[in-house]
Amino acid sequence: MASTKPATVRTEEHDGPRREQDRAKRAALVVAFPEPRALPFPVAGEVVGRDWFERNGVVDARISGRHIAFHRPGGNLFIEDAGSRNGCWVNGARLGSGERVPISDGALIRVGRTLLVYRDDFVGGDAPSPPLGRLVGPFGLRRVVHAIETIAARQPTNVLIEGETGTGKELIARAVAEAAGRATKYAPVNVAGVAAGVFESQLFGYVAGAYSGSGKGSDGVFAAHNGGTVFLDEIGELPLDLQAKLLRVLDNREVLPVGAVRPTHVDVLVVAATNRSLEEMVEQGGFRRDLLARLAAARIELPPLRERIEDLFSIAQAIVAARGESFAREQVEVEAAERLMLHEWRGGNVREVASTLERLARIEPPPVLRLETVERVLGPLAGATSTSASGVTLEQVQRALAEAGSESAAARRLGISRGKLRRMLEASRG
Ligand SMILES: Nc1ncnc2c1ncn2[C@@H]1O[C@H](COP(=O)(O)OP(=O)(O)OP(=O)(O)O)[C@@H](O)[C@H]1O
Ligand SMILES: [Mg+2]
Repeated sequence: MASTKPATVRTEEHDGPRREQDRAKRAALVVAFPEPRALPFPVAGEVVGRDWFERNGVVDARISGRHIAFHRPGGNLFIEDAGSRNGCWVNGARLGSGERVPISDGALIRVGRTLLVYRDDFVGGDAPSPPLGRLVGPFGLRRVVHAIETIAARQPTNVLIEGETGTGKELIARAVAEAAGRATKYAPVNVAGVAAGVFESQLFGYVAGAYSGSGKGSDGVFAAHNGGTVFLDEIGELPLDLQAKLLRVLDNREVLPVGAVRPTHVDVLVVAATNRSLEEMVEQGGFRRDLLARLAAARIELPPLRERIEDLFSIAQAIVAARGESFAREQVEVEAAERLMLHEWRGGNVREVASTLERLARIEPPPVLRLETVERVLGPLAGATSTSASGVTLEQVQRALAEAGSESAAARRLGISRGKLRRMLEASRG
């Protein structure tokens, strides 16, 4: 393996030499639903509506002729409902006609049947990016992909992937190995799943007669994958004594098989992943500072799903496609897609999306997706003011119930069915 200069490539910092133009950051409206594509940002003060959207490839009959406008007084960005017929929602709350509210990066805007995410630092082309291996990310993984390309070009020896649980670190590790041309021999090792007693012999090998029953010896994962990649998943779970042994490998590219006198040289790309903060572990004495420094010569931060919600519907579509199903865009309520995008997914990111889609399918499978079903599974939006298609809020339901005294009287008063009222109450209880 080529020797490496220690170079920290952070997902957000680097700027590659290629396609510099594409890397320029710009403001954009990213269509997340129904069809992913990025739109240029309208001129401040210009009222945009159906024609403007159509000129930019978005055909939506429910967008009014004059729908919204953006303003930048004092450098702060505001969105205004410019008197639209069907309304404009920002992060799930409807604007009053003529009302202006401030928006910032990541704001979710609903006009007609279209969901837009505002980005102030959009990079790359307007068309959705193709999947990276099995990772679907039409817009939200561009910095990660760029980081992988930059890192791979430097032929690193160690790469650290960090991200919350369920963000796709295993798929990214594979992509790093591919980009570095080291995927033919690829050894995933779940550090948390290897018993401490066998870790050393399993990874570094052992010689004949090293211990009783050791037979004729074994190469170990590192030597067996010479020229390839060893992926150490959940590296934060590695006990301290083994951290010292791993450090020796990373320092010298040498492994010492159990019972051997001489170390063996290995040429292996080491990719490690963690959903824990190794910096915090170092502070608390659970992780070696020198090992972290070695591993983090090149690091890739995989953003949580809530920071790339423009990808959510595309990811959901890919997950159901793997089960042989598909959401029909005209049978998906835009409010349902919106509710999914407004969920924080803190419990498990994409993995949580997959389990949520399974629960949804048990109530009503694709091609249909209704807000009512999503709310039954995820509950109404926390602090919601306008989460139901009928426009009745949970707060209104609770107040009407307290005042009217019975479910049927409250439902009559609100002009909704008793079933709907019950479902809203049930969803709110989770
Ligand atoms: N962008 C994506 N597109 C499609 N599938 C994805 C995407 N990201 C993650 N997944 C899927 O979500 C699941 C979780 O991903 P993965 O196992 O890689 O998470 P992880 O980051 O390793 O989480 P943990 O820290 O809990 O191990 C996998 O089934 C993976 O295939
Ligand atoms: Mg994992």
